[in-house]
Amino acid sequence: MRKIILAALLMTLAFSADALAEKFPSRPVTIVVPFSAGGPSDAMMRILGERMKASLGEAVLVENTTGAAGSIGVGRVVHAAADGYTVGFGHLGTHVANGAVYKLSYDLVTDLEPVVLLPSNPMIIVSKNAVPAKSLPDLIAWLKSRPVPATAGTAGAGSGSHIAGLAFENATGVKLQYVPYRGTGPALNDLVAGQIDIIVDQLSNSINQVRAGTIRGYAVTDTKRSEQAPDIPTTDEAGLPGFHMTLWSGLWVPKGTPKEIIAKLNAAAIDALGDREVRKALENLGLQMPPANQLTPEALGAWQRAEIEKWWPIIRAAHVSVD
Ligand code: MLT
Repeated sequence: MRKIILAALLMTLAFSADALAEKFPSRPVTIVVPFSAGGPSDAMMRILGERMKASLGEAVLVENTTGAAGSIGVGRVVHAAADGYTVGFGHLGTHVANGAVYKLSYDLVTDLEPVVLLPSNPMIIVSKNAVPAKSLPDLIAWLKSRPVPATAGTAGAGSGSHIAGLAFENATGVKLQYVPYRGTGPALNDLVAGQIDIIVDQLSNSINQVRAGTIRGYAVTDTKRSEQAPDIPTTDEAGLPGFHMTLWSGLWVPKGTPKEIIAKLNAAAIDALGDREVRKALENLGLQMPPANQLTPEALGAWQRAEIEKWWPIIRAAHVSVD
């Protein structure tokens, strides 16, 4: 008798999970962006979220939960219900570097389920206009000539802009004094205002200010120039050969989220990435679309694990851990 009741219970549970997945979504979906509004992650997610709404048939709300280089926002997603209604945006910083920088209360691989790889951002080396340098070699010479390290804006220890800053220090021998913000949106405002000296920023964040001439761009960390900033040389052209870095990004959900729901979120994101207007808006910011054959949840999972293998030893060797 007990066995029959248990079997009936399990069947009911399976039925309700399937029913839930089938009806998903039946209310707004929240995408947690772990950095400030107005920054590169936020801008990308608001453009994609608007289009995902059409595929999901429900509103997609962007919520900025900031702090500790995005690790607080990721924690919010880890501890959310595994029902597909809380989705987390992340990137190399939040879903790789932070695992080597912070003693996180969660596991970046086993406590989250990958959903889809999103566009990536080449980085750009930018400075306030008051810096007396017109080229990358001039900038590096100026940075080395400083009696005290120049200030570099970041979104916190472990963030994309911090990891890029560390890589720039390693590649040039300059020393930087990092100034943490809750995102590179507010850091950029301070750069324009001349409060900080440089940022190794995501191109999509700085591109409009570079175009407006309110800050100076020296080089993009990619092997080819950005079509959106054709006058900015690559690091290879600008005298820092081999210094390449693009910041990839993705979406994750809490562990235990039903596969059918992940599939629906994945499909909605792919729809958005395939939309001509969305692509135009993202490419206009200098963002690069993910490869079409890398859009499965499994592909993001495999890529994240490979990046952890690659970056953790580098970050640990740089002794940037935060207790
Ligand atoms: C942001 O959106 O502010 C950035 O992604 C932060 C960073 O990691 O540099």
